[in-house]
Amino acid sequence: MSEEHSFDVIVIGSGAAGLDVALQLDAAGVEVAVLSKTELEETNTWHAQGGIAAVLDDADSFEAHIRDTLIAGAGLCDEEVVRFVVEHAPAAIARLERYGARFTRADDGQYHLTREGGHSARRIVHAADATGREMEESMAAKARRAPHITIFEQHMAVDLIREHVPGKGYGRIVGVYVLNRNSGRVDLFRARAIVLATGGASKVYLYTTNPDITTGDGIAMAWRAGCRVANMEFEQFHPTCLYHPQAKAQLISEAVRGEGGRLLLPNGERFMPRFDERAELAPRDIVARAIDHEMKRLGIDHVYLDISHKPADFIRSHFPNIYAALLKFGIDMTREPIPVVPAAHYTCGGVMVDMRARTDIENLYAVGEVTYTGLHGANRMASNSLLECLVYAEAAVHDLLARLEDIPPPPPLPAWDESRVTDSDEMVVVSHNWDEIRRFMWDYVGIVRTTKRLQRARNRITLLQQEIAEYYGGFRVTSDLLELRNLALVAELIITSALRRKESRGLHYTLDYPEPRESQRHPTILVPDRFWGCEFMLEGHLS
Ligand code: FAD
Ligand code: SIN
Repeated sequence: MSEEHSFDVIVIGSGAAGLDVALQLDAAGVEVAVLSKTELEETNTWHAQGGIAAVLDDADSFEAHIRDTLIAGAGLCDEEVVRFVVEHAPAAIARLERYGARFTRADDGQYHLTREGGHSARRIVHAADATGREMEESMAAKARRAPHITIFEQHMAVDLIREHVPGKGYGRIVGVYVLNRNSGRVDLFRARAIVLATGGASKVYLYTTNPDITTGDGIAMAWRAGCRVANMEFEQFHPTCLYHPQAKAQLISEAVRGEGGRLLLPNGERFMPRFDERAELAPRDIVARAIDHEMKRLGIDHVYLDISHKPADFIRSHFPNIYAALLKFGIDMTREPIPVVPAAHYTCGGVMVDMRARTDIENLYAVGEVTYTGLHGANRMASNSLLECLVYAEAAVHDLLARLEDIPPPPPLPAWDESRVTDSDEMVVVSHNWDEIRRFMWDYVGIVRTTKRLQRARNRITLLQQEIAEYYGGFRVTSDLLELRNLALVAELIITSALRRKESRGLHYTLDYPEPRESQRHPTILVPDRFWGCEFMLEGHLS
């Protein structure tokens, strides 16, 4: 039997964004459900290495952090948003410490601040090279003890439910259908408000630094429900992912370059100074493109990242986890260079929100990597992402607490209808389509693009979308099918946005328009032309 639940607020996602929202609401006595599609801690947040950008040193300034973010964003950041985020950073760090997170300190007891690409100062607060783990584990432990938080692990949101007022159109959010992966049933969750905190979509690419959960579910659900999305063409490729046949998604933190690591060709030549005066500490788009260029020019599979000129103790104490992870693959970073390649890392675009984290739909909020806030522009600066999660979590909570009492409880809603579907007898279709999407996105919509390749990608995604829609209509949902459906939609949004941008800027580089153009200096905003989520008619009929 499927279940029904009702809460004041449902938070979909248990990374930095979701847990920060939930913990703040809990402190205000609001009854919150936190949904996580796997285990609570299995998030991108847990995997974050380098740290969180925050101005905490007297020699640094908000103005410098703002300036660096605007430069990295290549002319597309919203300056008001950048200032808002930067100025709220110290409070966000203090809140994390109240949750129990502990960050690396220098000998004088002050934060040890590291450096990463694009930052003109040392301003990255970190917990050695496993900052995300420290954050996620302290927040998750607190959430598990919190009196007003109910945690639903292995619960995957399928689609949001909107009220449909006949003659007036679609209204507020009232709930969400959720696949309980333990029972295989789709449960109904009702709430006054919902916060999407589902992270990004980098799994749409064949090679990625992200864990398997990162399939763009929130972006897809919000789009189907009627939200605009923006800047989906700006997928960030991290320059340094370990290249090794047995390694899956092992990031080598940008902090390795921040602490002196150099990028080398197989002959030992240091090449980054040829591309940018900031060399290895240029923003990520520039470094990833330079590596891609050198790999194609020389026909090589990877380049090297070398920090072995630094004392071994220094390396082991700054990067204990990366050091240990590499040793498992037989690589000793204190003595030899590390083979690296770029890989898809971060989705700069997403669901459009305002500075209160409100989406286009009443009572639907979004926070974290799932969003487009205007902070990152055409290229996110390192360690600004966790910061954005925390600052917007606070903004969402502030707005929710001011409004919650006035939001009427959701109406009774019908259970998920499974009367017209059967169990799939062709799971091979799902796995084949999944592989195909990720491969052509890598080949045709990657670091360097052309209009022709983008058109090829669009033709393929159109066909696959039809096939997936047919499949979805006929068979009982599984988590693989839901993720495929979401990935395909996100791929389509990325391709459409990339085709619209007729210039090269930040992370979007196309050989057909190799320069930035002033006429194109605006976000790419996509508006859904139809509603295809789940609706609830006020008279009581579900479509
Ligand atoms: P996530 O942490 O990704 O959490 C998403 C949550 O949503 C998960 O709980 C997932 O289960 C849930 N979810 C998704 N879909 C559904 C669904 N359909 N139903 C239910 N639940 C769902 N950024 C920095 O600022 N500094 C760093 O040092 C840094 N290092 C990084 C290192 C790595 C290897 C990676 C991959 C990323 C790094 N980033 C870093 C980026 C940063 O970690 C992410 O942008 C950030 O953690 C996103 O947090 P989030 O809360 O938005 O989403
Ligand atoms: C890293 O440690 O290199 C990741 C930092 C980030 O993605 O912001």
